[in-house]
Amino acid sequence: MFSRIAPTYDLLNRLLSAGIDQRWRSYAVRHLTVPPPATVLDLCGGTGDFGLQLLKHRPDDRVHIADFAFPMLEKARTRLGPAEQSPHGVLCGDALGMPFTEDGFDACLCGFGVRNWSDLEAGLQEVNRVLRPGGEFAVLDFFQAGESLPDKFGRFYCRKVLPAVGQIISGDGRAYRYLAESMDGFCGAVEFKKRVQHCGFELVDQKKFSMGMCWFFLFRKV
Ligand SMILES: C[S@@+](CC[C@H](N)C(=O)[O-])C[C@H]1O[C@@H](n2cnc3c(N)ncnc32)[C@H](O)[C@@H]1O
Repeated sequence: MFSRIAPTYDLLNRLLSAGIDQRWRSYAVRHLTVPPPATVLDLCGGTGDFGLQLLKHRPDDRVHIADFAFPMLEKARTRLGPAEQSPHGVLCGDALGMPFTEDGFDACLCGFGVRNWSDLEAGLQEVNRVLRPGGEFAVLDFFQAGESLPDKFGRFYCRKVLPAVGQIISGDGRAYRYLAESMDGFCGAVEFKKRVQHCGFELVDQKKFSMGMCWFFLFRKV
């Protein structure tokens, strides 16, 4: 599904969030506390938005963008520049079983990725394994909505507006219905925090954006 929507993914992201998604990523990378130059994994990195935002604010870092959808990664590679001249890498692989050695990264970013994992704990254990002790895990995502008015508005937007606009621009309304379905099938933000903490992390920072539609969490490997 992610491979199918790769050609229009960036355009739709900007349009559907009115550009706010870039501000969320910018906030997240500015709140990392690991000192540069750091080696950073952008997990479920897609077309590279999070990794590129990192390099904008922390140009001395090295980023590795990993994703299992090859067409997304091809776009990320183009945006990072030619492989031979770039200190940054891309890797096609599954977040639940990564071909990286233990303790190799100073930080891991995951933007709108954790919600898609078929086994959250397996993914969290993998992130824990590849991070060095003290390494940071920055998560941005949408979680299961509650019953507040902003939550109800968010649900309406995801169920009705997103698939309609997604259908017009990408021709794939089904893929954009998936966002609402995956949020409904995922846990709430509070439970997510607990599950990450159970996998060997401590919470360092958190913030909710757009009345709780999107959350930022910063964890540290203990
Ligand atoms: C909504 S996109 C987010 C892309 C990017 N991080 C961003 O901020 O725009 C989710 C990405 O996660 C990837 N993904 C989902 N599950 C994955 C897994 N188990 N392993 C690797 N990539 C995965 C998808 O291919 C997709 O590119």
